[in-house]
Amino acid sequence: MGVYMASVEIQKVRKCFGETEVLKEVSLSIREGEFVVLVGPSGCGKSTLLRMVAGLELPTSGTISIDSKVVNTVPPKSRGVAMVFQNYALYPHMTVRDNLSFGLKLAHVAIPEIEKRVKEAAEVLGLVKHLEKKPGQLSGGQKQRVAMGRAMVRQPKVFLFDEPLSNLDAQLRVKMRTEISHLHRRLHATSIYVTHDQVEAMTLADRIAVMNQGQLEQVGSPLELYQNPRTRFVASFIGTPSMNFVEGELLYLIKAPHGVASAGFRPENTFLKQGKVSLGEGQVVLVEPLGSIAYIHISLKGNYLVSEMKGHDWPEIGSTTEVFIDDSKVFYFDSQGKRI
Ligand SMILES: Nc1ncnc2c1ncn2[C@@H]1O[C@H](COP(=O)(O)OP(=O)(O)OP(=O)(O)O)[C@@H](O)[C@H]1O
Ligand SMILES: [Mg+2]
Repeated sequence: MGVYMASVEIQKVRKCFGETEVLKEVSLSIREGEFVVLVGPSGCGKSTLLRMVAGLELPTSGTISIDSKVVNTVPPKSRGVAMVFQNYALYPHMTVRDNLSFGLKLAHVAIPEIEKRVKEAAEVLGLVKHLEKKPGQLSGGQKQRVAMGRAMVRQPKVFLFDEPLSNLDAQLRVKMRTEISHLHRRLHATSIYVTHDQVEAMTLADRIAVMNQGQLEQVGSPLELYQNPRTRFVASFIGTPSMNFVEGELLYLIKAPHGVASAGFRPENTFLKQGKVSLGEGQVVLVEPLGSIAYIHISLKGNYLVSEMKGHDWPEIGSTTEVFIDDSKVFYFDSQGKRI
């Protein structure tokens, strides 16, 4: 397949809908071939940002550049980007082959070239056997692959994905996730990918950009965000189950430095049998067995904690259990939620 690579520069981009400012000066540089995942709570502006890169929305101010060329006024079809949506948006009355070739026909690409690209995309995506079917005869995963194929045949410089897998069942998501990962390794296409799925974000991203209320909170490699979150928001957003946070009297037990408003530690560093520092006794409120591990939910002095426990000898719901942490694995935050 062709090489799809371009840098994308988002510079001080703001977006207002009427009086409401939904994006506040977002700046993000995406390198050629990089896979950047946008995450953040519902309504924080992920799709809006993606749609501005695609040219479907106009920035209120700021610039978007692709390969160092400002594209603010360039129409979507001339930007060299292709977007894959959550709802596939396939033409139901057309075969897979026609769905794949339709956009190229509109763009007056020569027929032999169209056939070549459709063939290549169908091979890469495992759609060769399905080319004469209509979308109604395909599974969700196959439809999603057609949607990706339709983006691929356009040979865009940048792929934009807006929650492409969220309509699929859990098993299919995992399968498609690994397929996207393989595809990216093969094509090295510059990609911006929006998802709500933690595992997708952690496994696919070269860098994750965490958005909150129209702003970028932190951008970094998955491990960087996991090990070195700069804010309480990022600390709580990256990682499942979410990091535990304690406030008040437990801070003394942990010997938190002066000025600390809250302390956070991850469920895998929260223990029930033994550990460096005891937080005292709490009550088991929920046990979630996952096979090799279980998540034990505990209420302790007004704090809600989750412990990731190996093995199967978990405590009973309603029982009392002592909780320990490793104090070298604690993150501290000030009253503004900034990491100390
Ligand atoms: N065309 C529009 N007119 C007015 N407000 C809009 C429009 N599009 C989006 N918004 C608002 O902008 C904010 C950001 O929306 P956006 O769709 O970018 O969020 P998101 O991060 O993609 O959320 P989700 O995870 O739910 O998809 C929301 O408050 C939304 O209501
Ligand atoms: Mg969205």
